Amino acid sequence: MRKNVLITGASSGLGAGMARVLAAKGHHLALTARRVDRLEALQAELLADHPDIKVVVHALDVNDHDQVFAVFKRAIVDLGGLDRVIVNAGLGKGGRIGTGKFEANKQTAETNFVAALAQCEAAMEHFYERKSGHLVVISSMSAMRGMPSAMTTYAATKAGIALLAEGIRSDLIGRKGLDIKVTTLFPGYIASEMHEGIQQEARMMVDTETGCRALVKNIEREVVDAAVPTWPWAPIGQVMKHAPLSIVRRMV
Ligand SMILES: NC(=O)c1ccc[n+]([C@@H]2O[C@H](COP(=O)([O-])OP(=O)(O)OC[C@H]3O[C@@H](n4cnc5c(N)ncnc54)[C@H](OP(=O)(O)O)[C@@H]3O)[C@@H](O)[C@H]2O)c1
Repeated sequence: MRKNVLITGASSGLGAGMARVLAAKGHHLALTARRVDRLEALQAELLADHPDIKVVVHALDVNDHDQVFAVFKRAIVDLGGLDRVIVNAGLGKGGRIGTGKFEANKQTAETNFVAALAQCEAAMEHFYERKSGHLVVISSMSAMRGMPSAMTTYAATKAGIALLAEGIRSDLIGRKGLDIKVTTLFPGYIASEMHEGIQQEARMMVDTETGCRALVKNIEREVVDAAVPTWPWAPIGQVMKHAPLSIVRRMV
């Protein structure tokens, strides 16, 4: 069992939801995010429900890359090594390219891609050292194709981290004596703060608990990649990959 798990962006949504599911399965957790009050409340809840596990929390802005490496090192000491890292922190700000939204688009690009790179570097350094570990990257169904309007930069970052993960996986091929796996998850719509106030997605949205159980199921299977939940997102993903762009832009 990959016992010790670090999750970034664990203060809400999918990060907090996966922490709840993993805690119930007996994992020790290192939870990070900027909103430490939220992390501390989650820590208290998890320890009350599951007194046998360890839960440590650390303030972390993933855009402070030195802090990413430092916090991962502290979590390694706290838990006596990390078996799995879930690169989850992300945001969905943005606007159509060419409409003066560069700052929002840049913030999304930096948080979802450059900061994810820092997290992957810090995790893989540790996994290579101990010859074992599981890197999990939370991409998105939007990574299947170029997306219009406010989603353009977001989708590009999610496609970028999926290829980043695939490249890391490629580095592991043929390396004997390493038990290191890399999983890329492509969530569809799972209820979280990211969707607050957005109505049109509701019909295909699952609640946070259902979505996080499906995420954890795929994580524990250590799949190479998966659309989550499988239905309806695996078939939708196939359509998205092959349909004309004029149709894809109406699917999101
Ligand atoms: N929900 C979905 O349907 C869906 C679908 C596809 C992909 N995803 C992906 O799932 C991941 C989690 O999103 P969510 O839906 O759970 O949204 P959410 O509820 O808004 O959670 C986002 C998390 O990321 C953290 N975060 C954002 N910027 C950060 C920063 N600079 N440093 C550290 N942490 C930061 C937030 O923590 P703080 O603000 O406390 O720092 C929060 O814990 C994201 O990568 C998102 O792209 C979600």
